[in-house]
Amino acid sequence: MREEIHTLKVEVFDSLDELPEDERGLIEQAMRAKGFAYAPYSNFKVGAAVLAGGIFRGSNQETAVYNGSHAERTALDGAAVADRKNRISKIAIVGDSDVPITPCGPCRQDIKEVEDLAGSPIVILMAGSKGAVWRVLGIDGLLPLAFGPANLK
Ligand code: THU
Ligand code: ZN
Repeated sequence: MREEIHTLKVEVFDSLDELPEDERGLIEQAMRAKGFAYAPYSNFKVGAAVLAGGIFRGSNQETAVYNGSHAERTALDGAAVADRKNRISKIAIVGDSDVPITPCGPCRQDIKEVEDLAGSPIVILMAGSKGAVWRVLGIDGLLPLAFGPANLK
């Protein structure tokens, strides 16, 4: 037996000003997208923005049968339908909270899929409506030992 330890490095930025310009811009686009969320049931609005050549925005869109879409997926799918699915390099996620929000399990799986298509680690930026921004390079730390496209080969 041997042990493996899998770690997650999170870069914590105390303010948006500390981020590189493109990443600050991506977070600002995610904040703007949050304004278009439709969340009358949870009252929890989420915005996302994906960098894939251009910027693709998304927000959570709920339904009365509680099967709505998550902000991350609507943004990722926006890039996909513009034929940029394999060119996604960064995603920003912003929630209605004082602390950064992190993508849920199924959204992590979506990010895993596009990261494998891109062939290099995706920058994942997580923020609340104020306060710190968390930055993680690659989905691996957020979805360790993931099942991905390679498992089906
Ligand atoms: N939500 C997202 O949009 N992304 C996530 O990964 C976490 C949750 C949304 C879904 C629902 O509309 C609301 O936040 C509360 O769960
Ligand atoms: Zn989700």
